[in-house]
Amino acid sequence: MKRIDPIREPLGGDITVPGDKSIAHRAVILGSIARGRSRIFNLSGGDDNSRTVRAFRQMGVEIFRDGDGLCVEGKGWSGLGAPDKPIDCGNSGTTIRLLSGLLAGRSFASELDGDASLRQRPMQRIIDPLRSMGAEIESKSGNGLAPLTIHGGGLRGMEYSMPVASAQVKSAILLAALQAGGTTTLVEPQKSRDHTEVMLRGFGAQVAVEDRKISLAGGQELSAQDVRIPGDISSAAFFLVAAAMIPGSDLTIRNVGCNPTRDGVIIILRRMGGSIECVNQRVEAGEQVADLRVRGGGLKGVDVGPELVARTIDEYPVLAVAAALADGVTTFSDVKELRYKESDRIAAMSAGLRALGVAVEEREDGMTVRGGKLKGGAVESYGDHRIAMSFAIAALASAEGVAIDDAACVDISFPSFFDLLGEICLH
Ligand code: S3P
Repeated sequence: MKRIDPIREPLGGDITVPGDKSIAHRAVILGSIARGRSRIFNLSGGDDNSRTVRAFRQMGVEIFRDGDGLCVEGKGWSGLGAPDKPIDCGNSGTTIRLLSGLLAGRSFASELDGDASLRQRPMQRIIDPLRSMGAEIESKSGNGLAPLTIHGGGLRGMEYSMPVASAQVKSAILLAALQAGGTTTLVEPQKSRDHTEVMLRGFGAQVAVEDRKISLAGGQELSAQDVRIPGDISSAAFFLVAAAMIPGSDLTIRNVGCNPTRDGVIIILRRMGGSIECVNQRVEAGEQVADLRVRGGGLKGVDVGPELVARTIDEYPVLAVAAALADGVTTFSDVKELRYKESDRIAAMSAGLRALGVAVEEREDGMTVRGGKLKGGAVESYGDHRIAMSFAIAALASAEGVAIDDAACVDISFPSFFDLLGEICLH
């Protein structure tokens, strides 16, 4: 149980957050299948990224620390060997789904598994398209859930219209498509994060993107690159909300990835009346990066509709906290996907906010939060890092503080979260 007390003073400081988790997974994956030594800088240190590193070590790829970088000794596709035992993806949806696509093209047998939360998450969304490309991939218990067994190879390109906007599904298919005969063309219902497409280009592949349509020809070789990972906007989001809702705060978060497929939290906080300035904007490794300066004032309730879902997907929990402190009512709609994350995030946030004295109406595909005051109390994280961190932010603006059950799960994406939180409170 972790207790966080309310803060009486404005937040401030000049900080950086750990490297982007999504980009890091992709850097390790592409580095492992490229030819040559890639060096990756600013890896998050979170458990999710370590799962991907360990998975490739298990397949025989040499990955080691050298100074402040992580070296990945890629030997091309043929450098990957059959894993000696099931690959344990832990809590990481990105690891299991992206590796499924990659292994769908390998002619050896493999098995992918994870923790109790990962075993509850839908895998049929990758099983179906990978089977259409010719892969043998099964849910071991036949219910569309992990563990997954894969015997890959002999893939053919396809045209596929994706039923859900999911960067994990898209990336799994692109990793399979790289190994397939012919060209694969995907159409997304809404543009999801495009780090895979951006990084594939950086590693020398040709990827054609036209709005929501992506085409990739099989048989392309990748060559090693150095990748500097920007700070994770999904980690910065907790501090953006904290500073935006506490009057008088003035916080700068440097070197944050601001890819337009990820910036929904900035757009929504601005709509709520938050003051966020993007300064020193630049492009690094194909990704947009900026320093974010956020100043606190009063937030107001807004309607958040379907148009920003993919761009904001991981930030809804902390935005629900912003909504709870805002003046007026906030409605989040068309976010059923939140029920399939590390926890059922609609249920987890509704239950937790209610326990803290906030009026919340929960719907199958969204929630309505009546803003105003947050009393405080005890909440559960359900082992979900983003739920734990969201309630830690809620605690700062609560009347009586918040006790969070199982807050150690923040290590999944952001091991230094509580230290940084202390730093901006005591600046
Ligand atoms: C991710 C994609 C998103 C996101 C997850 C990371 C990625 O999941 O929620 O935290 O790295 O591709 P979906 O693809 O399931 O939407």
